[in-house]
Amino acid sequence: MPPIDSTKASPQMRVWDIGVRVFHWSLLLAVSVAAMTGFFGSPDSFSIHLIAGVAIAYLLLFRVIWGFSGSTFARFRTFIFGPSVLIARAKDMLAGRHTRYLGHNPLGGLMVFALLGVLALILMTGTVVLGGTLKQGPLAFITSYATGGLVKEIHQALAIGLVGLIGLHLAGVAYETVLGKEKLMKAMITGDKPAVSDVPLPKPALARPIVALVLLAVISLSSIFVIASFAARPGLGVPVATVDPHYVKECGACHVAYHPSMGTAKLWEGILAHLDQHFGEDASLPEATRAALATYLAANSAEHFDTRIAHVLAKANPDDPLRFTATRFWTRMHHEIPESVFKSKPVGFKGACNACHSDAKAGLFAPQNIDIPEGAFK
Ligand code: HEC
Ligand code: HEC
Repeated sequence: MPPIDSTKASPQMRVWDIGVRVFHWSLLLAVSVAAMTGFFGSPDSFSIHLIAGVAIAYLLLFRVIWGFSGSTFARFRTFIFGPSVLIARAKDMLAGRHTRYLGHNPLGGLMVFALLGVLALILMTGTVVLGGTLKQGPLAFITSYATGGLVKEIHQALAIGLVGLIGLHLAGVAYETVLGKEKLMKAMITGDKPAVSDVPLPKPALARPIVALVLLAVISLSSIFVIASFAARPGLGVPVATVDPHYVKECGACHVAYHPSMGTAKLWEGILAHLDQHFGEDASLPEATRAALATYLAANSAEHFDTRIAHVLAKANPDDPLRFTATRFWTRMHHEIPESVFKSKPVGFKGACNACHSDAKAGLFAPQNIDIPEGAFK
């Protein structure tokens, strides 16, 4: 049955148009970057993770449009198969029989939809995580920190699932290459395959690149406006009011005036109760000033906000409950920074958050706003 030996002699046919090929290799690149920065990244590479995610979103959008406007084998209708065909294909594979399809074979086509579907879910969950945990992006205004944390687990599980699917995809390619003697890799580069098929060819279709590009432009431009307007709304539970200038004056004299959302009511109470012995300094204040600060800090403590910093610093270290820098979270995040950097002139001490976090004063601490000052390494 398999007429595969005739492949050398048979004429070549354009199967994968330029749209499919550029999409395929660009997606591989974008997914690799997203996976590397997601699985092994640090706050440093977070912007790259986001850029890769946005690139994947545009690639998916293009592929969906191209599935209706590309040339024959790019069209979804040429690789949607019913369950009976899928089962027959699986049986063929188990029996070592090779039925040659010019485009995607039934299981290969199913894999395309699975990959596109899982990627779409990863993008959606990623947007929820971004909104909930970092209060960034179009969903920040409606997503709580708790939701973001929960969905992060799903985002990560989907990413692991994607790695599994890619493994299966590669196994399928290897199977076709070895048992079917297909040159699939080469075909995804040149676009051409020997024009031999064991099954009737689908009805041919011409690519409509202009229609596709216009659609892509219209949808992406209009969505950018919607996304930007959502992203411009204040994040749920993010402090919007400026920090009280009296507080900044009294508590910002020796170190940065820590944003009130960084400390729990209990921490602020503890600090204000012993101002005369403030970490070895005398920071005492007249009683009226102290009482006013107490009211302000109690009304703006971590409990009133839903930012990451308000949550992560809330778990105080019982051995040193009044220091942010003693919390497990803080120690874990900063353990790679040498002691000499904290003691350096441009930083001074561990609690000088603003030396490295340009948005510390606003209580935000976004991964994109971290920069250890140059001079700190001298
Ligand atoms: C007279 C100077 C001075 C003033 C005024 C002052 N502090 Fe401090 N503060 C310090 C010093 C010194 C440290 C400890 C620095 C170190 O760890 O080396 C510190 C540490 C802290 C820390 C712990 C930082 C960490 O390590 O996580 C908090 C919280 C804090 N101050 C809050 C306040 C508040 C609130 C006020 C206003 C009521 C205030 N400080 C006013 C000198 C001051
Ligand atoms: C010497 C510079 C420096 C100082 C001072 C510093 N940080 Fe950081 N911080 C960093 C760096 C660098 C990272 C990223 C660590 C990594 O790459 O894993 C970080 C990470 C963080 C993160 C996690 C960011 C993320 O998105 O994962 C938080 C939150 C944070 N710091 C809070 C603080 C707070 C609060 C203070 C002050 C009490 C502080 N930092 C003081 C340099 C500093």
